[in-house]
Amino acid sequence: MIQKMKGTYDVIDDIAYMQLIEKKILQVSKLFHYKEIRTPHFEASQLFHRGVGETTDIISKETYDFIDRGKRENTLRPEGTAGVVRAYIENKLYADPIVPYKVFYYGSMFRYERPQKGRFREFRQFGAEAFGSDSPLLDAETIAYAVTFLKSLKLKDVTVTLNGLGDRKSKEAYHKALKMHLKDDIQTLCKDCQKRYDENPLRILDCKVDQDHPVLINAPKPLDYLTTEDKAHFDKVCSALEAMNIVVEVDPSLVRGLDYYTHTVFEIKVSKDLLGNQNAICGGGRYNHLVETLDGPPTPAVGFSFGIERLIVALKAANVRLDDLRTHLYLITLGEQAQETGIALLQKLRLGGIIANMDFMGKSLKAQFKQSEHHKARCVVVLGEDELNKNQVEVKDQETNEVHTTSLDDLYVTLIDILTQPSDCESCEQGGKKT
Ligand code: HAM
Repeated sequence: MIQKMKGTYDVIDDIAYMQLIEKKILQVSKLFHYKEIRTPHFEASQLFHRGVGETTDIISKETYDFIDRGKRENTLRPEGTAGVVRAYIENKLYADPIVPYKVFYYGSMFRYERPQKGRFREFRQFGAEAFGSDSPLLDAETIAYAVTFLKSLKLKDVTVTLNGLGDRKSKEAYHKALKMHLKDDIQTLCKDCQKRYDENPLRILDCKVDQDHPVLINAPKPLDYLTTEDKAHFDKVCSALEAMNIVVEVDPSLVRGLDYYTHTVFEIKVSKDLLGNQNAICGGGRYNHLVETLDGPPTPAVGFSFGIERLIVALKAANVRLDDLRTHLYLITLGEQAQETGIALLQKLRLGGIIANMDFMGKSLKAQFKQSEHHKARCVVVLGEDELNKNQVEVKDQETNEVHTTSLDDLYVTLIDILTQPSDCESCEQGGKKT
């Protein structure tokens, strides 16, 4: 039997979570005035080498590369930012009269990583990028967008960490100080870090092998090397977040694993109890030179990406209630006439937004009750000869155990009344909306 490839998975049980996330992405993105962009799943390999950075783990160890029949070098996208920047330049989106130009994306990314909990080779990201403004307020708004998205999913207990890397001058000064600090201990660091020392010293701070090494714990921090201008940018991001009541923790060691960042970098984490070591559900930051690096006009930008699979694990572990597939009404029918009337009734209720189901298997009364339990039906109605003759049914509210007697004509209104009673059930909220 052919099996799925290592690090991939079929979305079966998690589909309701995924759909809920997708719905919230659309809702929250609208609030922040981001529109969707869909870019290809594969791009010219060069794009990622120049964009993400030759010496990053993602590019040096994790890309899926292939040569096509036309001898072109292709890479499956390991992240979304580089492709969006390419599309921004190629489609001259910088000429759009609306600035900043804001887009979001959702889709599969591919990294050849060692699979473990919360880490896959094909995984999904929801990401967002805003082009054209270097205002620190936009950094703050971007973080607010990410936090609002999590709020809409009712995911609490997340930590937002923030750091400031500054622009070129600050980064240069910091690199110098860091190399100076590591100079005498470099031989005691791992082989990769020894290479990074010459090629890209900032990456050393991100090393998983050496993260507890004393020389790294005591290393100088980027915030201490910011120019006055860059420090002012960072402070403004912090004060804007405070004004929005968004709680963040400054983490002076946060550098992130991609090369394009300048100024603000941030991550959102859930507790290790939920996700183990792969507990970053979102990462992002400002990247003021990537558009230029990829041959576009100088354009500052800022963005983030969420890992959808990690988000799902966190939602499940935090017991965020998900009732999207919950039935509002399960109609139990007894006899052929009741079934025929029943299906017509269901059609009317469904057109009115009620999630309704009935039996199609000729099951007994008892077995139909069992089905209503499997459907987690909020209400159950039995429709038999008696009920048809009297034109009256009893609606049993399974949540409160109350029974409501109603005519068949008033069944819709009765159900709406029940469903609009306070409940944190997603689908009840929708179906129960009175119009
Ligand atoms: P990143 O930190 O590489 O940033 O990835 C963002 C998120 O994707 C991570 O926080 C994690 O939740 C998820 N993720 C990454 N790798 C995996 C994996 N192998 N399996 C499951 N989930 C994963 C970026 O990709 C940047 N493009 C973010 C950005 C956008 N910066 C500016 N704009």
